[in-house]
Amino acid sequence: MKRVLTYGTFDLLHYGHIRILERAKKLGDYLIVALSTDEFNKVKGKKAYHNYETRKKMLEALRCVDLVIPEKSWEQKIDDVKNYYVDIVVMGSDWAGSDKFDYLKQYCQVIYLDRTEGISTTKIKNDLNLQEPINGINQIPNN
Ligand code: CTP
Repeated sequence: MKRVLTYGTFDLLHYGHIRILERAKKLGDYLIVALSTDEFNKVKGKKAYHNYETRKKMLEALRCVDLVIPEKSWEQKIDDVKNYYVDIVVMGSDWAGSDKFDYLKQYCQVIYLDRTEGISTTKIKNDLNLQEPINGINQIPNN
């Protein structure tokens, strides 16, 4: 059983996200998404519209996603790879050549997949012009 791991915020889930997750899943049998927590997003200078729990539920609803775990720091990746017996880490090509993932090649395969052109969470926010007023307050109902 090949286990694949990918990282990200996956806010305002869009088809660029779906495409990378589906392609990542096809590289193996079990797909784990390490989802940036709201606190870690602050460290990254990002502010999600949907909070962590909401983003997690949406990812868990996807057929291609088997497990969602929290991404809380830059440093956790080696532990993630070891603890979850990961064979392949997949990231979008925007991360290729950065020092954030390449070092994991000592522990597993690292594969960069092409980003989908013309879509991003930032673009959706800009296009809808909703960036400032309502960031982070929306939450899925409990039942
Ligand atoms: N991704 C992709 N194609 C896109 C957008 C994102 O393949 N058009 C990939 C990224 O490369 C990353 C994963 O989806 O591996 C999660 O990216 P994330 O940063 O959460 O999404 P973005 O839409 O890029 O968000 P932002 O605009 O806030 O950076």
